[in-house]
Amino acid sequence: MKIAFELNGRTVQPEVEPRLTLADCIRHELRQTGTHVGCEHGVCGACTVIVDGAAVRSCLMLAVQAEGAKVTTVEGLSRDDSLTPLQAAFRKHHALQCGFCTPGMLTTAHALLSDEPDADKARIREVLSGNICRCTGYIAIVDAVYEARGAYRK
Ligand code: FES
Ligand code: FES
Repeated sequence: MKIAFELNGRTVQPEVEPRLTLADCIRHELRQTGTHVGCEHGVCGACTVIVDGAAVRSCLMLAVQAEGAKVTTVEGLSRDDSLTPLQAAFRKHHALQCGFCTPGMLTTAHALLSDEPDADKARIREVLSGNICRCTGYIAIVDAVYEARGAYRK
């Protein structure tokens, strides 16, 4: 099936099998490999992308369900070569080691702070609890997201 949706501000029209996941469509058909695939059944959060403003597990969504939607991956969080305030906070706080979980952490945190720029640490922990990190631990990640809140306040 030919579908059309917006990926990081650009209209894309991939030809996909009806059963193809959005994660595999983004990675294999559209070559945006910043979205990582870990568990493939909705548990780890590595594949999280933003669909019409909401953080979504792209391994649990079919590509055909993205028809007409606005999809943002980690590549789309930054419009130029510089780091966003959220990315800069991750670097400052050493909030990553291997980086496998990081795209999902960034997209989840971006969706959260876009809606709730005053989220406290308890709320940040609650929302990020669906994203598994196997090497950094969560203290630095929560600190980074907490520090980035100012950039999301209007
Ligand atoms: S790969 Fe989608 S939640 Fe783990
Ligand atoms: S930085 Fe390695 S899994 Fe999170």
